[in-house]
Amino acid sequence: MSGEAQHPLLLSDRPDFEAGHPTVRLVDLFSGCGGLTLGVAQAAEAAGTALEIPLAIDSDADAGAVYESNFPKADFRQTTVGEFFGPRAGEPLADFELRVAEEVGTVTALVGGPPCQGHSDLNNHTRRRDPKNALYGHMSRAAEVLQPQAVLIENVPAVQHDKHAGEGVVARVERELRGLGFDVASGVVALAALGVAQRRRRHVLLAVREGLTAPADVLADLADRQDFRDLRWAIEDLVKAAPTGIDEPPRASAENRRRMQYLQDEGLVDLPNAERPRCHQADGHSYKSMYGRLSWDLPAQTVTSGFGSIGQGRYMHPSEIRALTPHEAARIQGFPDYFDFSAIALRSSLATMIGNAVPPQLSRSIFAELLPDLTAAGD
Ligand SMILES: C[S@@+](CC[C@H](N)C(=O)[O-])C[C@H]1O[C@@H](n2cnc3c(N)ncnc32)[C@H](O)[C@@H]1O
Repeated sequence: MSGEAQHPLLLSDRPDFEAGHPTVRLVDLFSGCGGLTLGVAQAAEAAGTALEIPLAIDSDADAGAVYESNFPKADFRQTTVGEFFGPRAGEPLADFELRVAEEVGTVTALVGGPPCQGHSDLNNHTRRRDPKNALYGHMSRAAEVLQPQAVLIENVPAVQHDKHAGEGVVARVERELRGLGFDVASGVVALAALGVAQRRRRHVLLAVREGLTAPADVLADLADRQDFRDLRWAIEDLVKAAPTGIDEPPRASAENRRRMQYLQDEGLVDLPNAERPRCHQADGHSYKSMYGRLSWDLPAQTVTSGFGSIGQGRYMHPSEIRALTPHEAARIQGFPDYFDFSAIALRSSLATMIGNAVPPQLSRSIFAELLPDLTAAGD
């Protein structure tokens, strides 16, 4: 052994997240395949503590199958969060919520990334009042029911502009959490500075029981980080991967293959207007990244579920005539190789859960700071 630390994304053996002492008890709502959970698991493992997951909920069966195969001891429920928690804090607990509180027991941390389509910048003003935005409100109610030590809510930056019920859902949930005895801070975090090879920015609302680590200090520490990674660091070795399973390249139309060949032959990263479909030949730069090629020496653009097609964004591989494979997209999202996606073979399901996922570095960085205080408080 050289003693040199192994590349964190190339680790193929899952750590024993269930071993250690004391035990961190995590609840993940809207869990998807488990990006937020994985980050908490990694932070817990680094701190020598065990992870237990008394409840994880997602309505999607395929995301749930992947979640369960990676966290087999978790009590995962494939249902809607509304079946377990009401939509806002402040009212007496219903009988079903009292039962949930009793069954779940003590909770160290509650995390959740409610669906965010209603908040996307790409959507219009009407969609900012989409009832889907109300799903965010389940998080404060779940905090009221479960009484965790800390709450992390992740979303797209545009959630700040939500106008649901006048006040906006972030302001409302912050107010409710303060009323429950939490110190609360929120802001937009650039994940590229946390060691994620991608220019993803996410809104984070962090609430911690008053008297423990101040959430504003944690967010300030994240803003000071400079741990930048380029695409080469994340996926260069995968050029040599056997082209099967999650390493199988996506198929492209003849037109898109021709466009990729053009970029390759001309040594370009942006496709000239004349080579684009007519509907994308807009003046200005709104479509600039569409049909674009990634660069080895930069972080990738935000990975969405469209990573397998250059018509969905800058997803052409830096050196190959193809878009990204699911494995490459998962690496860019910060998933190490031990994270097992094999429960689901359907490409569209894989693309959705990978594109939806929160890079684990986010919750890992946050809980690395919080856990010493949280576990001491729970003893
Ligand atoms: C942004 S993704 C969450 C990503 C996840 N936090 C991760 O890190 O991998 C939102 C998830 O919410 C799920 N979802 C949507 N509506 C739901 C509901 N009412 N109850 C439970 N899950 C829901 C979707 O299936 C999707 O997996």
